[in-house]
Amino acid sequence: MSDRQLTEGDLDDLIAAAVRAPSLHNTQPWRFVARPEAIEVHADPSRALRVIDPDARELTLSCGATVFNLRVAAARAKREPHVQLLPDPEVPTHLATVWLDRPVLAGAGYAGMYDALWRRRMNRRPFRDAEVPEPRLAELVEAAKAEGAALRFLRRHELAELLAVAREADRRQRCDSAYRAELAAWTTDDPWRTDGIHSSTLGPYPQVNFLPVRDFGLTRLDSARRIERFESDPKVAVLATAGDDRPDWLRAGQALQRVLVVTAMRGLAASLFSQPLELTDLRRAVRDLGGIGAPQMILRVGHGRAVLPSARRPVRDVKDLVPRVAPGAQRWRR
Ligand SMILES: Cc1cc2nc3c(=O)[nH]c(=O)nc-3n(C[C@H](O)[C@H](O)[C@H](O)COP(=O)(O)O)c2cc1C
Repeated sequence: MSDRQLTEGDLDDLIAAAVRAPSLHNTQPWRFVARPEAIEVHADPSRALRVIDPDARELTLSCGATVFNLRVAAARAKREPHVQLLPDPEVPTHLATVWLDRPVLAGAGYAGMYDALWRRRMNRRPFRDAEVPEPRLAELVEAAKAEGAALRFLRRHELAELLAVAREADRRQRCDSAYRAELAAWTTDDPWRTDGIHSSTLGPYPQVNFLPVRDFGLTRLDSARRIERFESDPKVAVLATAGDDRPDWLRAGQALQRVLVVTAMRGLAASLFSQPLELTDLRRAVRDLGGIGAPQMILRVGHGRAVLPSARRPVRDVKDLVPRVAPGAQRWRR
């Protein structure tokens, strides 16, 4: 592909890789404006979760993850990706532009990541009771650092504290009818649906003294879903940034995705927990516990068995030739 102009097909391939990024409730809250020299990443406010994510922190983080995938795919297309965050103050939904107008430099630092971003998926099942070697954990810490974020694995006693906070978050959200309605709208049994959390990706309920996984089955009774024992010494980390505004959220999303892609490259599994970060006082408690800045995500890594991938909207549904005004954009962060 080297020096020639990127074709429509090349741009579609880049966007197809971009949308494999994780997103809150698999809302895929993004749109892309593609030109041969750049791809713009826009937030799609019509896909915002106003109950659990009123300030769009997690939406922005999800879009940050998609920016990281675009960088990896651009390097594979022999372009040196150059990212501009929030390039236009007049258009707050325009979150980033990934420039593709320079040829790739030798060793762009994404080796092995392209294949891994396709293999990566959320694993909500129990992991094996096998140790994750220390150098592997250190590599994940480095991955976060490379993106300007911090990742810290919690010690056993800290994990016990986090468990208490996470249980409280789960308890409060379960009792909130608006939370349940939002969750119901984004969970599905429909095999044709291309967004939302499909019941086949839920995993079992963990036993009582484990981190509560977000119960996506809360509003649909499923007698087949069992309680299972999860790993006895879970490796759980907090991902944090020094600041806590939109550029930090975009940075956190890129850091999260780099960590998850490296996890997949090393054959490890990962799952995410964001409930404790969706309630202001509990997020403060996680901040004190993590001690490394504003917490943006909680993740668990380990040795997992294979799980099913989740669906994505096709490229034609997320690609625009010119920026379009999404429903809700006028009210977006004004
Ligand atoms: C900001 C954010 C918050 C998330 N929070 C949770 C969570 O609390 N519990 C969970 O099981 N998954 C969580 N996820 C994972 C998404 O549900 C998952 O990425 C999405 O369903 C797509 O599946 P995939 O990652 O396997 O492609 C979160 C992802 C993001 C980006």
